[in-house]
Amino acid sequence: MDHYFVIGNPIAHSKSPQIHARFAALTAQEMHYDRQLVPLDGLAAALQAFISSGVRGCNVTVPFKFEAFAAAAQASARAQLARAANTLVFKDGLVLADNTDGLGLVRDIQVNAGQSLAGRDVLLLGAGGAAAGVLAPLLQAGPRRLVVMNRTVSKAQDLVQRHRNHPSMTASLAQTELTALDLQGDAGSFDVVINATASSLNGADIPIGAGALQPAALVYDMMYGPAAKTFLDWAAAQGARTRDGLGMLVEQAAESFLLWRGVRPPSAQVLGEMRDAK
Ligand code: ATR
Repeated sequence: MDHYFVIGNPIAHSKSPQIHARFAALTAQEMHYDRQLVPLDGLAAALQAFISSGVRGCNVTVPFKFEAFAAAAQASARAQLARAANTLVFKDGLVLADNTDGLGLVRDIQVNAGQSLAGRDVLLLGAGGAAAGVLAPLLQAGPRRLVVMNRTVSKAQDLVQRHRNHPSMTASLAQTELTALDLQGDAGSFDVVINATASSLNGADIPIGAGALQPAALVYDMMYGPAAKTFLDWAAAQGARTRDGLGMLVEQAAESFLLWRGVRPPSAQVLGEMRDAK
C-alpha cells in the first residue's frame, strides 16, 4: 500500500485527507493519505523519516512551502518560479518538488467556472507567497494582459521580473503583456480579478474600485468560506460573478494526485460533493 501525507503546522483543519480519500476511492487506487503535524523546526527530519519509511510523496502547506522547495534536490519550473512547493515526490532517496497551486487555480477557473483566460485581461492582487504560487500557470493560460497589483509595488515588480527572466516563460511572454502596479495605479478594467492577498480584506481595505471590473467579470478569491466573504460580497454587489477558492483546493489536490498516480481523478465530482455537504 502506497503512503502519502499532507504536512503543515497547524494541520488538523486540512481537507486534503478527505479529498484524496475520495479521489482514491473513485479511481480504485490502493493508497493511504494522512495528515501529519510537523514541528516548526522539524521539516528536514520529517522528510528524512518519510524517505526512510518508503512514503511516496506528500503535500506541503503553511508554513513549510518555501522550506520544502529549498530542501528538494530537483524542482519543476513552476516550483522554481514560485520558490515554493506544495507537492513533493520521494524517488530514489531524493526529494523532487513541484507546485500545483497555479494549475489548480487555472483549471478551476477555466473548466469548473467555464471562464477562459486566453486573450483576456487578468488582474492578480497580491505579490506574496500565494500570488507567486500561481503566476506561471496563469501566464501559460495565455491572457492578453496580466497585471500584478500589490500594496508594496517593489514586491510585484520583483515577481514579474523573475517570470520575465525565466526561460520557461519566453513563449508565454510573447503573447501576454505582463506588468506590475501599485494599488493606486489605474490599469483599466479586467475580465478576471483574482485576490491572492493574505488576509481577508475588510471593507476599508478592498484595494480596487468598481471601475476595475468589466461587465460580468469573474472575481475569484483564493481563500474559501468566511475568509473570502467580504471581498466576494463586495464584488457581487458590483454585479460581478464570484467564486471562492474551494475549487482551487480540490484541483491542486487533483494535480498532485495525477503527478503521483498517473491518473486524473474526477475532481469536479468531488468539488460538487464538498459544496453539497456544506
Ligand atoms: P501569502 O503567502 O499568503 O501570500 P504573504 O507572503 O505574507 O502571504 O503575502 C501577503 C500578501 O497580502 C502581500 O501581497 C501583501 O501586500 P504587501 O506585499 O504590500 O505586504 C498583501 N496584503 C496583506 N494585507 C493587505 C491589506 N490589508 N491590503 C492590501 N494588501 C494586503
